[in-house]
Amino acid sequence: MKGKTVFVAGHRGMVGGALVRRLEQEDVRLLTIGRSEVDLCDQAAVFGWFAKQRPQVVFLAAAKVGGIVANNTLRAEFIYDNLIIAANVIHAAHVNGAEKLMFLGSSCIYPKLAPQPLREDSMLTGPLEPTNEPYAIAKIAGIKMVEAYRSQYGSDFINVMPTNLYGRGDNYHPEYSHVVAALIRRFHEAKVAGVGNVVVWGTGTPRREFLYVDDMADACVHLMKSYSGDELVNIGTGEDITIAEFARAVAATVGYTGQISFDASKPDGTPRKLLDVSRLTKLGWRARTTLEDGIRLAYQAYLSESK
Ligand SMILES: NC(=O)c1ccc[n+]([C@@H]2O[C@H](COP(=O)([O-])OP(=O)(O)OC[C@H]3O[C@@H](n4cnc5c(N)ncnc54)[C@H](OP(=O)(O)O)[C@@H]3O)[C@@H](O)[C@H]2O)c1
Repeated sequence: MKGKTVFVAGHRGMVGGALVRRLEQEDVRLLTIGRSEVDLCDQAAVFGWFAKQRPQVVFLAAAKVGGIVANNTLRAEFIYDNLIIAANVIHAAHVNGAEKLMFLGSSCIYPKLAPQPLREDSMLTGPLEPTNEPYAIAKIAGIKMVEAYRSQYGSDFINVMPTNLYGRGDNYHPEYSHVVAALIRRFHEAKVAGVGNVVVWGTGTPRREFLYVDDMADACVHLMKSYSGDELVNIGTGEDITIAEFARAVAATVGYTGQISFDASKPDGTPRKLLDVSRLTKLGWRARTTLEDGIRLAYQAYLSESK
């Protein structure tokens, strides 16, 4: 990447922001563009911008992203935006001679009942989780584009599959956020309002994996520099925790001392969701931020971002 022109698509997002922070430590010419200047769903605008800027390296971290409620209610927007963004950016990168591109998928591209921990080769071996199927199908289409451009044009485009991410720049929307942001916000608001009980959706028993977003950015830069294969690469910690344990850890960091109860009438989702990170480990990368440190950093970021 040394001396190259590097484009981060989605730099205002949680992952894109972390990538920009990480890339500032590298000797690169960084390019970013706001949605008001180039809407990545607008093919003519994307092709025009790429033809002018001709980035050599592209991190495709722009997407329509959200938690279970957003995915399940805005189903048309999730499939349309994510298909079009992937198609526009991957094709524009190819046409304008980008040397390398990284497409960010997600762990929800794996079948709902795939064996745990989730291996990269389990993609397309069974039905998807119905609540986020439109998003997952669009992501799978993006992955397949990358594979097809590698095979037909010899493009050095690669696919990575991150686990659940959290940290600076997360979305704290009351309905549309992911679980970590939702818990931080709810425990913080309960602490401030002096509420004695916080209800967490589900039984608390499902196990989930969480990766701090600056670790994710570091893994992406590592793979961008060192990996050129056609196989997907999972990015995670390789460790999981129950939602109940995780909720208690967030409450402790936030300083919420009231009760935590679990609403078992709400859906739990899959009992376990953990990525097999052996391929990533073999490629020489492992997560550094502990869950305790990550939650502390995320809460500090929430406090400063919500001011
Ligand atoms: N967050 C997670 O837990 C997680 C887990 C696995 C994979 N991922 C993947 O990581 C990537 C980044 O996720 P994130 O959490 O950083 O999401 P995010 O915080 O919602 O950021 C997404 C970014 O994409 C931009 N964007 C969306 N539609 C656009 C459009 N039409 N034109 C221009 N820009 C557009 C957004 O711009 P605005 O700022 O203008 O809205 C935002 O900057 C996604 O591919 C996602 O699938 C995320």
